[in-house]
Amino acid sequence: MSKATNIHPVFHQILTRADKEKFLKQRSCVIWMTGLSGSGKTTIARHIEIELNKRGHLTQVLDGDNIRTGINNNLGFTEEDRIENIRRIAEVSRLFVDCGVICINSFISPTREIRHMAMDIIGRDDFIEVFVNAPLEICEQRDVKGLYQKAREGKIKNFTGIDAPFEKPENPQIELLTGKQSIAESMGVALEYIIPRVSY
Ligand code: ADX
Repeated sequence: MSKATNIHPVFHQILTRADKEKFLKQRSCVIWMTGLSGSGKTTIARHIEIELNKRGHLTQVLDGDNIRTGINNNLGFTEEDRIENIRRIAEVSRLFVDCGVICINSFISPTREIRHMAMDIIGRDDFIEVFVNAPLEICEQRDVKGLYQKAREGKIKNFTGIDAPFEKPENPQIELLTGKQSIAESMGVALEYIIPRVSY
């Protein structure tokens, strides 16, 4: 007897995404923040979570803090590892979406190919691309984590924007000019799109 005969399909017994969205009174999706290190992705993600939570929505933020220290703690920053990083994140995000939860992701996700892969895994209709667009000079000037300086000194290799590429999204649903807008201004732009999208 093959092992597979022990597997009984139970999909008909499992609550569907529609059941869960009804339960949560929201329409799930992935809000995918892309941009350079230091562009403000995580700050915006946290603010979006707070605003959605105030309106009764259940969300999950995924970022380096909970992903690269956990499920992806064996991955670095080669192109291959970044692809695997984003592939796993997209698969995890899809599970949240199937559970009716609004997933807010902040990852550099530097190439069009990588973001396209994420969109293919998650599904076009559920993938909201947010370009957190601050110019490299400003991110480098802020250098919140001191990593740009290390990259300039050659102490970190393959640093996005310095010696590894960042390809701008061509058609993001939302673009936030975090180099010149205040957080409140960026939040206004983001919520105008997101609130109707997640409302039940
Ligand atoms: S991604 O390219 O695979 O999407 P991810 O968003 O998970 O990257 O991680 C980026 C964060 O890791 C940066 O904000 C920075 O703090 C840190 N980091 C460490 N090394 C690098 C590097 N070589 N390039 C970019 N970010 C790095």
